[in-house]
Amino acid sequence: MFFKMMSIIISYLLGSISFSYFIAKIWMGIDIRNYGSGNAGATNVLRVLGTKPAIIALLGDALKGIIAVYLGKLTGDESIMLLCGLAVVIGHNWPIFLKFKGGKGIATSLGVILTISPLSSLILIIIGVFIIYITRYVSLGSITSAIILPFIFYMLHKSGYYLVFALVLTFLALFRHRSNIQRLLSGKESKLGEKKTSRV
Ligand code: G3P
Repeated sequence: MFFKMMSIIISYLLGSISFSYFIAKIWMGIDIRNYGSGNAGATNVLRVLGTKPAIIALLGDALKGIIAVYLGKLTGDESIMLLCGLAVVIGHNWPIFLKFKGGKGIATSLGVILTISPLSSLILIIIGVFIIYITRYVSLGSITSAIILPFIFYMLHKSGYYLVFALVLTFLALFRHRSNIQRLLSGKESKLGEKKTSRV
């Protein structure tokens, strides 16, 4: 029981290490949360700092999702593995080391889903990238994939646990994209490729 509890707590702490935040600090000495969309995420790093740091942010934030799921797997308990997956995303969104102001959890969720269900992640990436390609809105791609996630998970895994896990991930993603949804509805959302150095 102790190891199970510890794996969830460690996953949360791991999630709290924001690669997007630290790469912006190291690259330009800035707090990424004061620029662009104000989000500590790879899309905002791309918008404010460019491609190379954005790729590092994306891979780093996804990697912690992968590590957390493997940590959960070590307990031999599938429900703990799923809880570790949720804990690492919650850590990324509300990091204890950054006064609980983090990202929107998409890269980290991707790492989690990739490890738990590679086929689901492949389908979600294809759908998300397609939406981004045709609309140029990264947030719309993220939101669409997040909404589709529970359906794909249920079709592929037919498990109540997996469905609840997917629904919580969807809720977290939609909750963190509230401002994006408002901007999309009012036509004020930034498109991919628009460079922004000031705060939106
Ligand atoms: O993954 C986050 C993305 O969907 C939106 O990021 O910076 O445009 O709010 P941002």
